[in-house]
Amino acid sequence: MPNSNAYNLHNKTALITGASRRIGREIARSLHAAGMNISLHYRSSKAEAESLANEFNMERPDSCIPLELDLHDTAALPELIDKSYQHWGQLDCLVNNASTFYPTHIGKMSEHHWDDLMGSNLKAPLFLSQAAIPHLQATNGSIINIIDIHAVNPMKNHTIYCAAKAGLAMMTKSLAKELGPDIRVNGVAPGAIMWPENEIDSITQDEIVSRTALKRSGMPEDIAATVLFLIRDAHYITGQIIPVDGGRSINI
Ligand SMILES: NC(=O)c1ccc[n+]([C@@H]2O[C@H](COP(=O)([O-])OP(=O)(O)OC[C@H]3O[C@@H](n4cnc5c(N)ncnc54)[C@H](OP(=O)(O)O)[C@@H]3O)[C@@H](O)[C@H]2O)c1
Repeated sequence: MPNSNAYNLHNKTALITGASRRIGREIARSLHAAGMNISLHYRSSKAEAESLANEFNMERPDSCIPLELDLHDTAALPELIDKSYQHWGQLDCLVNNASTFYPTHIGKMSEHHWDDLMGSNLKAPLFLSQAAIPHLQATNGSIINIIDIHAVNPMKNHTIYCAAKAGLAMMTKSLAKELGPDIRVNGVAPGAIMWPENEIDSITQDEIVSRTALKRSGMPEDIAATVLFLIRDAHYITGQIIPVDGGRSINI
């Protein structure tokens, strides 16, 4: 097994879902800066994805390809893995980051909400992981799922989202059991890192921040650094979910 000093990410590859913006973009930046080649998945943020891929390819030629897919297209998920593999000839890490997040109120929940939230947060990560397994076995690679501290402690009015993330947390542990010793499977559970793009008022923001031990929200770099740690340094860690939440999950 490589130790942390010897394990060089140069020319290793990562496929990151939802990587054109926000936290996914920072994960892509961090892994690219560490030497990895990046398959940068996006759905609707084409301009941002292409701009980021150009930036990476200017820094290091042929080090990033953008790949478009709506992750609700379950039948096409293996093709996404295949396209990445065909380009790089190997896959070392799958980062399941893409997600939808919004409230679902009792009495107003629909099957569309269920399919959308479960599809992006749980179903797609499972079927992407399944398709990636042969390639990850070949490289002793890893899967990293971006979960949420609310997979454990529910957020009011977000029943379907929290249930989906709880499923993703269990999937992380279950796959770790099945895929060892060849593949490590871990999760990162962000707390308040970037506020959702739909309105969240400043009183609510202050209230959330006040329940952290560190009395501030985190930054996308905090998530990216943890993902990098899990890929590069954590060779004896599998089936674990690391909260990156300023201490919020210790119930302040
Ligand atoms: N932000 C936080 O503070 C926070 C807190 C807790 C957990 N998290 C978790 O951290 C991860 C990143 O958070 P974020 O706030 O950066 O995420 P985000 O902006 O809400 O979403 C990331 C990307 O997911 C993609 N996506 C959504 N549905 C998709 C679909 N059906 N098919 C393909 N792509 C789809 C979108 O890509 P396009 O733009 O290309 O459509 C979007 O840009 C998520 O897993 C989230 O649950 C974040």
